[in-house]
Formats: sequence, structure tokens, C-alpha cells
Amino acid sequence: MHLLAIIGSPRKGKATDSLVDKAIEGVLMKNPDVLIKKIYLSDHEINYCKDCLSCWKSDTKGPIAKCVIRDDMDNINKDILKSDLLIMGTPIHMGYASALMMTFLERICWTFAKPAKNYIIIKDCPAPRSDKKRKAVITSASGMIPPRYKKLCNWATPQIMGVIKDSLNAKTVGALYAGDVWHKGVDHYFDKAIKLGQKLL
Ligand SMILES: Cc1cc2nc3c(=O)[nH]c(=O)nc-3n(C[C@H](O)[C@H](O)[C@H](O)COP(=O)(O)O)c2cc1C
Repeated sequence: MHLLAIIGSPRKGKATDSLVDKAIEGVLMKNPDVLIKKIYLSDHEINYCKDCLSCWKSDTKGPIAKCVIRDDMDNINKDILKSDLLIMGTPIHMGYASALMMTFLERICWTFAKPAKNYIIIKDCPAPRSDKKRKAVITSASGMIPPRYKKLCNWATPQIMGVIKDSLNAKTVGALYAGDVWHKGVDHYFDKAIKLGQKLL
């Protein structure tokens, strides 16, 4: 079983990174044979989506449509295709996922999804190109907004949840909002992050 952890923080070893590590620890406590790959988006050249819609228009029967951009997403996509489990980690930036995470999400949006779902009068919404089911957990970390106010500041979790459902066929089985880490410290959330990882199995 392959687990892919995606880190959307530009800062290694800080809140997001350590919460993702703890979630991985939780996975390995339950099944030490899970194969783990951790990707720091900041280590990679991931260019902005150009909105050319080549992927949207693609009628490939495969699990991924070709993007016109050649960069590190080519290799990251191979890891996504292999993955069964996902851990998505992002800091909260201005209430949303980081720009690193958003850039990544835009690149997977229509490459892994086809315009196939209809909601009443809205047609051609994204549906996963592949039937492969995945499970995911999401961690988000904010500097100063405490958990009790997370609805006012954590737009990242629902957004990531929606994109990975529609594009990667990933069901989010748990999410952790680590709020106010500047005052509480990230260690405050470590037990919760371990339990979050355990939900994947
Ligand atoms: C551009 C930017 C915007 C931010 N916006 C928020 C915010 O809206 N609310 C908040 O509580 N913290 C905000 N922060 C603080 C980060 O959420 C905080 O530093 C977090 O710990 C970063 O995660 P990391 O340690 O994994 O990098 C912001 C930080 C940056 C750099």
C-alpha cells in the first residue's frame, strides 16, 4: 500500500511538516509495511496552470490527461497514480491553503478529472477520470486563530477536500485543524495528528 504525503508549507520542520510526520507515525503504528513518500511542494518546479484547458478537453480513457506544461508535476503525477492513501498538509495563509498547495491543486484539478458531473443546471463539473478509490486526511496549521474560530479561518480544508474528491477519487476520512500554533505550540496537536493518521487504515 502506497501513502503519499504532500507538504504545502515552504518551511521544513515546522508546524505542517511535523503534523504530517506525526500522521505518518500513526499510519506506521497500525501497518509498518505501508510505503511512504513525502513530497515537499517547495522542492519542486510546479508552474501555474495556464487555463489552456487541454486537460479539460482531453477524451483520454486513462486516469490522467496530459498537461501542456513540462515540469516536476510529471513525476509527482506518477506518485499520485501509485498512491492509495494521501496526507495533505497545508499552513493557513490568509484563511486559505498556501499558494504552493493552491498551485498544486490547480494542476491536478482537470488532469485527474473529466467534465462529467451535472448538478441540476450546472453541467460538466469535475468527476475523477479513474475509478481507483483513495483515502485521505488533511492537516492545516494556523499561527493565531484558535480552534474555536476555525470556521472563520480554515477555508483550506473544505477546498482541499473537494478537489481531491473530484479529481483523485479520495475520500477524506479525517481532518485536523491545528489552530494558534504560535501560542499553543505545535506539539499540543501531536497526539491528534497520530490519531488522524490512524484513521487512514
Ligand atoms: C502569507 C501568510 C498568511 C498567513 N495567514 C494567516 C491567517 O490567515 N491566519 C492565521 O492564523 N495565521 C496565518 N499565517 C500564519 C501561519 O498560518 C503560521 O505561521 C503557520 O504555522 C505556518 O505553518 P508552517 O509552520 O507549517 O509553515 C500566515 C502566514 C503567512 C506567511
